[in-house]
Amino acid sequence: MRTLTMNNGIPIPVLGTGTNTFGKENRVFSAPINNDTTELKSAIECGYRLIDTAIYYRNESVIGKAVKESGIDRSQFFITSKIPEKEAFSGTNERVHDSVQSSLKALDLDYIDLYLIHFPLDTNEDNVRVWRILEDYVKKGHIRSIGVSNFNIDQLTYLLTHAAIKPVVNQFLSYPGHHNQPLIDFCQAEAIIPEAYQSLTKVAPETKEILREIGVKYGKTWSQVILNYQINEGIIAIPKSHNHAHQADNIDIFDFALSDEDRLRIKHL
Ligand SMILES: NC(=O)c1ccc[n+]([C@@H]2O[C@H](COP(=O)([O-])OP(=O)(O)OC[C@H]3O[C@@H](n4cnc5c(N)ncnc54)[C@H](OP(=O)(O)O)[C@@H]3O)[C@@H](O)[C@H]2O)c1
Repeated sequence: MRTLTMNNGIPIPVLGTGTNTFGKENRVFSAPINNDTTELKSAIECGYRLIDTAIYYRNESVIGKAVKESGIDRSQFFITSKIPEKEAFSGTNERVHDSVQSSLKALDLDYIDLYLIHFPLDTNEDNVRVWRILEDYVKKGHIRSIGVSNFNIDQLTYLLTHAAIKPVVNQFLSYPGHHNQPLIDFCQAEAIIPEAYQSLTKVAPETKEILREIGVKYGKTWSQVILNYQINEGIIAIPKSHNHAHQADNIDIFDFALSDEDRLRIKHL
């Protein structure tokens, strides 16, 4: 798997798997956890090593279980989790500690590779308050890298001014038709890696048709065109699928190069 080097020198796979409906009844986000590791083990078999979870997904223990059941050394994985911005999880310093401890315990994988603030808190000062505690976990080695999610340019700018450890990643909504290009450009100028979520699910039908047309030239599907595009733009992608064939397709994207013309066409969709 290709990697990018984060601003702390640690490599991160350019492609991972989302998990927000994994290990849940009927594949429904809000449904009870059923501890089923089948979907994630299927993704691991395909070659995915970056796994994106969150306290909000309630499935950190399922992720830890699948990693252990895979029989692959823990060091081969890159596990991302996220602390919610809500009062109950981040409202006080004690709650932040409780949240981090609960992630570490549920995953049960010795350390977390990357921990993100899932959404910005109400104020920039609050973001910095949570950040300082996460920085301590990095110093102690429980978390290797820290980053943010859904932060805008102003929120990132404030954090960059006050942080002792720079965020390595900003994870946000990005897909053809809604790239969020100014935020991508800002992150890259600040050596923060942009990570796209929902690269596939929100793409408009007419956009999909154009991507399909482009894909024909390369013998690739619309989803493979998107993921190849994002990765070549220096954006990490974390598509999620419950379908083994889709999981295999989504990782089979490293053997073609979009022409400059097609790349520009996708950029301006
Ligand atoms: N930080 C945040 O605030 C935030 C917010 C949302 C999501 N996320 C993360 O980002 C991950 C990805 O987002 P997402 O799961 O909402 O959406 P997504 O990955 O864009 O799309 C998932 C949908 O696309 C379908 N799909 C996947 N591969 C396909 C393929 N090759 N061909 C056709 N359809 C395909 C899946 O159906 P099948 O199962 O049938 O393949 C599923 O319905 C999440 O799982 C989560 O880890 C983060």
